[in-house]
Amino acid sequence: MTNLRFDDKVAIVTGAGGGLGKHHALLLASRGAKVIVNDIGGSLSGDGSDAAPAVAVAREIRELGGDAVANTSNVATPEGGEALVNAALSTYGRVDILVNNAGILRDALFEDVTPELLDPVLDVHVKALFHVTRPAWHAMRKQGYGRVVNTTSAVGLLGGTNKSNYGAAKGAVAGLTRVLAMEGAEHNIKVNAIAPIAATRMLTHSLRDADDGSGPRLAPATMAMMNAVVDKLDPALVSPVVAFLAHEDCPVTGEIYTAGAGQVARFFTGRTEGYYHPQLSIEDVRDHLSEIRDETGYTIPANPGEEMAQLLRTIAAQPQLVTE
Ligand code: NAI
Repeated sequence: MTNLRFDDKVAIVTGAGGGLGKHHALLLASRGAKVIVNDIGGSLSGDGSDAAPAVAVAREIRELGGDAVANTSNVATPEGGEALVNAALSTYGRVDILVNNAGILRDALFEDVTPELLDPVLDVHVKALFHVTRPAWHAMRKQGYGRVVNTTSAVGLLGGTNKSNYGAAKGAVAGLTRVLAMEGAEHNIKVNAIAPIAATRMLTHSLRDADDGSGPRLAPATMAMMNAVVDKLDPALVSPVVAFLAHEDCPVTGEIYTAGAGQVARFFTGRTEGYYHPQLSIEDVRDHLSEIRDETGYTIPANPGEEMAQLLRTIAAQPQLVTE
């Protein structure tokens, strides 16, 4: 089998000045991609800016024989998104791959989430996907080719305490990934997402007790498990998943893969067979809750139409009610 290459492909990786994004950029460049290394160089909570991280990663790529330029646009603004995509187009003439990776944390208990803790988190994780992906999408549609890899999180899919802002944002990333996969299908644009687990500054922060003394940021059992394996969580082990999803040979779209420490698996949304009664009452829900929740024979609808078809089949299978 030949190695997968990205020659003549142009990739934008947001938040690539450190953490996971740096490894995504290094791997794509080592396989021939021309890379725009974007990073605003701010703190974990999104304060400040510094060109040094993006510049250093782009330099590292060039020193290793690759092709890369640094970009310090703020992806959380429409102007920043436009500027980033324009930089790719003016430097390399096209955009084939977009890895939406930039992220910040502003943890707090739900009751303490002020607009200052909410808006920047939604801006970087959700709105940035519109600000950057839309201009990139135009270029991808024109050329009839594109690969977008978004970054969601187990918190957005499964929940977690102290992270309502982040969980809401990452849940939105999952939903947007599904919608874009459908809209991209006819243009040969594939859109998938990863839910990574890697020892970056973000994870290290989550493994410490909260600054306000309210206790562990993660559930104690999760915290203990994570602390035991943290040295195995090399961010470079997440990048092969991103790179495959960004490759021309990637056969899937609209899917979410969890990746960490060398393990990769798929998350999906399942639907139980459920319970049906044409005159459903509150008591029916109470009395049939186990049946409603029973995972035996669950399905994974590919789209809302398939889900609706399941309902229609159930309705059609019932004997017609005789109405007086
Ligand atoms: P990190 O903090 O090391 O890297 C994030 C990078 O994004 C930073 O270099 C930062 O400067 C950059 N960034 C932030 N706001 C930006 C903006 N407005 N414009 C441009 N760049 C910006 O964190 P890490 O862990 O590498 O996170 C990468 C992605 O993975 C994030 O989306 C994060 O939410 C996600 N993630 C990480 C997990 C982990 O275990 N490390 C778990 C689940 C999700």
